[in-house]
Amino acid sequence: MGRFGIARFLHTAAGILSYPQDPRSFAQIFGALSSAHYTRGRITRIQRETPDTVTAFFAVGEGWIPHQAGQWARIGVEVDGKRIWRPYSISAPEAGDPSVTVKAQGVVSEHLVHRATPGDVLYLERPEGQFVLPDMPTELLFVVAGSGITPVMSMLRTLMPRRPDHDVVLVYVSRNRQSCIFHDEILELADQFPGLRPVFWFTEERGRLDASDAATVSALCPDHPQRSTYACGPDSFVTAVEKLGDGSSTAPVVERFNVTRAPTDGQRGEIRLERSDLTVEVGESETILEAAEHAEHPLPHGCRMGICHSCLIPLTDGAVTNIRTGELHREPGPVQTCVTRPAPYAVFDV
Ligand code: FES
Repeated sequence: MGRFGIARFLHTAAGILSYPQDPRSFAQIFGALSSAHYTRGRITRIQRETPDTVTAFFAVGEGWIPHQAGQWARIGVEVDGKRIWRPYSISAPEAGDPSVTVKAQGVVSEHLVHRATPGDVLYLERPEGQFVLPDMPTELLFVVAGSGITPVMSMLRTLMPRRPDHDVVLVYVSRNRQSCIFHDEILELADQFPGLRPVFWFTEERGRLDASDAATVSALCPDHPQRSTYACGPDSFVTAVEKLGDGSSTAPVVERFNVTRAPTDGQRGEIRLERSDLTVEVGESETILEAAEHAEHPLPHGCRMGICHSCLIPLTDGAVTNIRTGELHREPGPVQTCVTRPAPYAVFDV
């Protein structure tokens, strides 16, 4: 480490150490400084958004690459002595420190919602994702459900102050007013920036929104076929928006928060991890990634929904099926373990 490297190291460590740390944090700090793949973020503030959702604001360490509005980053937290990573959309606008808005679902999210406090140091990987604003100004339609608002909030917070008259319609589906994240801030943005027109759809009052139905969407946004459409939310919701766009010249830009699985053949399978000398049985509804984790042999992963390609491992023999499409894949080469199952036997060079 050169002179400037040492100075940077001491500066960064001093910043971190000014907060109370448990002894494990020292190892985290020194380990983190040696990685080119992630940086650390110190939680500066936690803000409650809804009864089960918070926004965690971070001051990021050296190495952080500023995000584009709409991107996501993997966050690593130590839970019961293990570092666990999960991807989260960044809700902060561009050109500032990141924040993530998290609903208490799953180990990492529950940690962030219920146990994380200002001063905690977490791990952050570089921002990724193609769910970003278009290069050229155009009329926009955002169609989001639930937590699907988080990357779109980053876009609105970035876009509207830059272009106050930009013509943007936001159709936002949530269960009710209480579960509608950022409800008041969206109304304030619409007051401030006349180009933004929010349409809230509360399913407790209006039932499910069929986002594939052109007549329903036309009632909310009559010129939707002329707009660039962005959709974010659960898989089935996003698929409905994609159907709405069938036949139009530009496909919607989409981001999914979960994966809908095609029906399986009900058969169990088996994987062989050659280098680890391990054979693992795969349950009828499990992915390869899940089965390896249940066998206490975690494999690399990121988003867990077929987006980021962090989970690629090389298939050398056998076959896998895609859990979304049921498509069979026999070619040796990289396989996404988060969205595949063995068919019925697959060998990997790991
Ligand atoms: S973990 Fe992201 S594609 Fe598999």
